[in-house]
Amino acid sequence: MESSEAPVVLMLGLPEGALGGIDLLSFTTTPRFRGVKGISTGLHFAFASPTTAFSERHGIWFDITNNGNPPDVIVTQWDAASEALVRITDETEILRQRANLGSIWNGLTPYRQEVAKTEGDDVEVSSDWSTLTASITPTLLSRLLGNGADWKVSSANSSRRDLEDIPGLVDQDLDLQPGEELHFLPIDLKQTWREGATGRERTDAAQDRSWALNNLTHNPLEIIGELQFCFLMILTINNFSCLEQWKRLLTLLFTCKSAVAEQPDLFIAAIAALRIQLQHCKDAEGGLIDLADEGGSLLKSLLVRFRKGLTGLDAIDVQDVVDELDDLEEYLKQEYGWQFGGSFAKTGLLELEDGEQVRMDTTAFDEDDETGEFAPQVVDLTPEQAKLLGVQDEVDLPQTLTRTSDESEDNQDLEDMDSRY
Ligand SMILES: *[C@@H]1O[C@H](CO)[C@@H](O)[C@H](O)[C@H]1NC(C)=O
Ligand SMILES: *[C@@H]1O[C@H](CO)[C@@H](O)[C@H](O)[C@H]1NC(C)=O
Ligand SMILES: *[C@@H]1O[C@H](CO)[C@@H](O)[C@H](O)[C@H]1NC(C)=O
Repeated sequence: MESSEAPVVLMLGLPEGALGGIDLLSFTTTPRFRGVKGISTGLHFAFASPTTAFSERHGIWFDITNNGNPPDVIVTQWDAASEALVRITDETEILRQRANLGSIWNGLTPYRQEVAKTEGDDVEVSSDWSTLTASITPTLLSRLLGNGADWKVSSANSSRRDLEDIPGLVDQDLDLQPGEELHFLPIDLKQTWREGATGRERTDAAQDRSWALNNLTHNPLEIIGELQFCFLMILTINNFSCLEQWKRLLTLLFTCKSAVAEQPDLFIAAIAALRIQLQHCKDAEGGLIDLADEGGSLLKSLLVRFRKGLTGLDAIDVQDVVDELDDLEEYLKQEYGWQFGGSFAKTGLLELEDGEQVRMDTTAFDEDDETGEFAPQVVDLTPEQAKLLGVQDEVDLPQTLTRTSDESEDNQDLEDMDSRY
């Protein structure tokens, strides 16, 4: 059987009706499900959860190198006792599983990532995994996840983090610690100047965080890679530590000025990566990522501030960045109805008549802007004024993850698997 040569990831021991997934595809497992075959070369992420309802998810990154003969067989096993997906590294066991492949071949589902998107009558097929992971490397995964045999990521119990059930609760309230096991780039937005800096230098570095960006890593591609990693760990397994880091990375990038002229390619890559990520939030069925609340005002205010910073730079140096930013804003206008420019840029904290407060200022997440230039002001607005300012029209960014709509459909046949992301 020629096709049995294809690279395979085995996901053994998953109970029937569990959630299984690889990359942008997820599915409900059937009794005969054993894994996925025909996986392309490159990095992939397999994940599982004992039920398709809100529960912990566990995933493993792996690299299909295809430089060996015979082709890669990655063996993972659901461990019922610890309710976790573990990677089997024992060579004898791997050999045994490899020898057994023929007998379970029909329980392996073909790897497909194409998502058919219906736009009017046109059907567009996208295969974005490689774009979404373009800057993720084995080196990056080893830094983030440790050098062990497993590149494991999990999501803690999500019940407490089920933000959609608790209106008004923002994730800061949840007292999330940065993932203990994730070695993120150390971003401290409260101290973006060099040790010992005082006075003017400190103020400048608070307003333009280029020093902090430049000091983060010697390899700027790590920043893009981490942005991509964090996003995918939000999308696939709801890891909120990654959501926090994703926001920190974006905040740092979009509060830089001089660095934009110095390394425009980094910013072009970041904006392009963000745009394709936002497209996947949009595609997610049943609102996989809830476009609500704080996240959206964060991104909007960051983009407004970022563009303002660009106007102070030499246009020739940053023209390509401006073009990329134009594309992103155009996308947000088209898909989410965002308006850029105009009065919301500096409005501050708005208190509506009913006492509800709406953050609209450019520094909502920017405690250390020392200028006071955008210091929040509390303004009383009538509903009409609020309407004029477009307050109620705020459209927002990934904040909470909600469940896909069709998860109650247990016992789906393998062939009914659908792409959800
Ligand atoms: C965590 O999830 C498991 C099911 O996966 C559940 O039995 C348990 O009660 C949850 N714990 C908390 C603290 O929510
Ligand atoms: C995110 O993943 C890391 C590594 O698996 C884990 O330690 C952490 O608890 C997770 N955080 C959340 C909020 O799910
Ligand atoms: C960051 O700054 C510290 C102190 O100036 C320096 O020792 C370190 O090498 C810098 N790191 C990078 C990546 O530039």
